[in-house]
Amino acid sequence: MSNDPQERIARLTRELNEHNHRYYVLSEPIISDFEFDKLLEELQELEKQYPLFAAANSPTKRVGGDITKNFPAVVHKYPMLSLSNSYSVEEIEEFEKRIQKAIGGEVEYVLELKYDGVAIGITYIEGKLTRAVTRGDGTQGEDITPNVKTIRSIPLEVYGNYPPEFEVRGEIFYPQKSFEKLNREREEAGEAVFANPRNTASGTLKLQDSAEVARRGLDCFLYGVYGSGLRYASHFEAVEAMGNLGFKIPPAAKNYIAKAKNIADIKAFIDYWDKERHQLPFDIDGVVIKVNRYDIQEELGFTAKSPRWAIAYKFKAEQVATRLESISFQVGRTGAITPVANLTPVLLAGTVVKRASLHNADQIERLDVRLGDTVFVEKGGEIIPKVLAVDITKRASDSKPFHYITHCPECGTELVRLEGEALHYCTNETGCPPQLKGKMQHFISRKAMDIDGLGEETIELLYNSGLLKNIADLYELKTEHLLPLERMAEKSVTNLLAGVEASKQAPFERVLFGLGIRHVGETVAKKLSRHFKTIENLETADIEKLVAVDEIGTTIAESIVDYFSQPENKMLIQRLKNHGLSFSSAPEQAQKSDKLSGLTLVVSGVFTISRDELKKTIEDHGGKVASGVTGKTDYLVAGENMGPSKLEKAEKLGVKIISEKEFFDLVN
Ligand code: IVH
Repeated sequence: MSNDPQERIARLTRELNEHNHRYYVLSEPIISDFEFDKLLEELQELEKQYPLFAAANSPTKRVGGDITKNFPAVVHKYPMLSLSNSYSVEEIEEFEKRIQKAIGGEVEYVLELKYDGVAIGITYIEGKLTRAVTRGDGTQGEDITPNVKTIRSIPLEVYGNYPPEFEVRGEIFYPQKSFEKLNREREEAGEAVFANPRNTASGTLKLQDSAEVARRGLDCFLYGVYGSGLRYASHFEAVEAMGNLGFKIPPAAKNYIAKAKNIADIKAFIDYWDKERHQLPFDIDGVVIKVNRYDIQEELGFTAKSPRWAIAYKFKAEQVATRLESISFQVGRTGAITPVANLTPVLLAGTVVKRASLHNADQIERLDVRLGDTVFVEKGGEIIPKVLAVDITKRASDSKPFHYITHCPECGTELVRLEGEALHYCTNETGCPPQLKGKMQHFISRKAMDIDGLGEETIELLYNSGLLKNIADLYELKTEHLLPLERMAEKSVTNLLAGVEASKQAPFERVLFGLGIRHVGETVAKKLSRHFKTIENLETADIEKLVAVDEIGTTIAESIVDYFSQPENKMLIQRLKNHGLSFSSAPEQAQKSDKLSGLTLVVSGVFTISRDELKKTIEDHGGKVASGVTGKTDYLVAGENMGPSKLEKAEKLGVKIISEKEFFDLVN
């Protein structure tokens, strides 16, 4: 082994890139994860000691950490066009005939999958990834390089015989597994789950924290190569050459890519994937047909928006007919009523569907759905399928139009529908069980009061046992109330009460958000708390004063005025005030000290204060909070029940592990 750090860094960089390629692109690793981590740690350590020798594209960048405040706009060197779409085989036949006519004979095609993700253009100069830009409007996109570098199947450097400068185009997408994992984690954290992998991929790529992107498990397939003086004669050849350089290209062995000589080959490919697409580990929404030879592509040219040498065949969103058994009505935390169709379970796009969305009363009326009807259900990009139409031919002669409910299914209160709104509402805010429980669940949720030790099930339990009717009751809970309850061991009681106590420190903006005033989301709550400073100012503000605040419109203003006009709400706030919750925003505090300046800390587990407060304390003392343990971490602040993987990693990397108390000793 060389002792020259510069050489060693270069060698490790190269080795790690190769192992990464074997693992993520070829799925043929030759070393264990443990050995890989060891090499990576060695590189991290060396880079820390000799930052000058670190490659800009070091594999240590894969874990992210770069924070991007905004993504600069970049004009594409080669415009990013779109494909013309077709929805029928006839249109594909016409496309093929058109080409034959223009060229004067049959030509060869390349058939590919149409990945349902986000287009990306990645430029390599001297073999190094230098820039990754989104499609944007096709002429200019956003530079999201730090985030793209975290995607393991995209090489940071290529090796072999590469053009001096070239751009690859491909599609970044969520493998189904990563998407499901993300949603599972969100569900556990009490956060709303994402409906659609494509939109989520797009949102993920715009996250400011690349470490978060790194954790999300995005993937990418390559489908095009651009550059001046490229020496490839055809698309297929270019894609293969990129595969040899280390890019993840669609495997021909799995029929992800194929050559076609004629329309029959094309049709066979379409048929195959129309049936098999649900077996794929990622979403596709069609197939793409491209003329293979570049010289023929050039001859055919472009229209204003898309190439004449390619076309997309889009699959029809899958539909299925099934019986509408019943319609149930869910009552949300704000009292909004959502109708849901309960169906005879049926297989649709690879999953069993039992329920579908009916949106609102108008939709039910428009479709004229009746109980017992045979309905067509469709699954588009969304996870919850929707009812599209009724098969009238199958309707029973004695069926009766469905009458929308007039009273709340949970508490019996008469429903109202405000002008201009699509949904019906139950107005019994202070007595309707799902609303009460929903409000409390919202109040304790992570972005509001973030009360540890208290989850959805506990709220349910406390509500059913009569201990909790509203959020103020939380602050009156005592050990002796809780211990007799089922599943309430001493430890969980202590945690719960500690969590409740700690929540009194939550800043005004979170308390305000936690109140669950209709239309007052996280951002609005922040704006209001900054503008009005105290709840008294907000309470007495009229519509005029409210709409004078940036981005507050009449809907929000009216909702706020309405909230404070109700005596129950005023009483609730008074009780919360008595318990010491904060109803005014503290003046912006300057940094308290620089005791943690230059240090990176990771927090994990449960603490006596909320995690966000702990993070704020770190920042108040000049420290930086990171989400994952790496070689750059200085301290891991360990709370109770912290994840074993973080602990293990910290131990392995020799990161100092300190308790909450030790942390406070450090700063105070
Ligand atoms: S080729 C000039 N190939 O579909 C045409 N695009 O409307 C360049 N897409 O924005 C696109 N899979 O993001 C091509 N195998 C594939 C594709 C593909 C998905 C996306 C791409 C583009 C859109 C075209």
